[in-house]
Amino acid sequence: MEASAPSKGIFDSANLEAREHVVELLRKAYWMEIETVMSYLSASVNLDGVRAQEVKESLGGDIEEELGHARRFADRIKELYGVVPGSEEFASEQSYLQPPDEQTDIVHVIRGVIKAETGAIEHYTRIIEETDGGDPVTQDMVIEILHDEQGHRRLFEGFLREYEVEGIA
Ligand SMILES: [Fe+2]
Ligand SMILES: [Fe+2]
Repeated sequence: MEASAPSKGIFDSANLEAREHVVELLRKAYWMEIETVMSYLSASVNLDGVRAQEVKESLGGDIEEELGHARRFADRIKELYGVVPGSEEFASEQSYLQPPDEQTDIVHVIRGVIKAETGAIEHYTRIIEETDGGDPVTQDMVIEILHDEQGHRRLFEGFLREYEVEGIA
């Protein structure tokens, strides 16, 4: 019997299909981050009012972080021999994060952010599950990013709580 070649894991030719599947999951994640950058950028500028300042500042900081996530997803797509998609492939999904009718409607934005973060958490959890045992490098990276998104969601849940307690939300 011939000795089998050492495993290259996700880069093994036998794992081509699995690798392409991971790239597909990462492309979706990449678009989620890009759309989040767009939505947070507009919200961080649009919101009006004394009470909006905290939320605006928080979103302003998140923009950089989400862009950093998009970069990490793009780099990993490349490492897995995929192609980072161009803008024509973009299809928006965050209907709930469009500017509200009134720019003082902070609750609309807070709820939108929680929904966007929840969507990211669900998709990244799926990537972590599907790369388990097959692609530990992607899995490790996505675990770190998932941690960031959990922190974002928790922060905005706290913002929402304040409005709920006051009966505004
Ligand atoms: Fe993110
Ligand atoms: Fe986030």
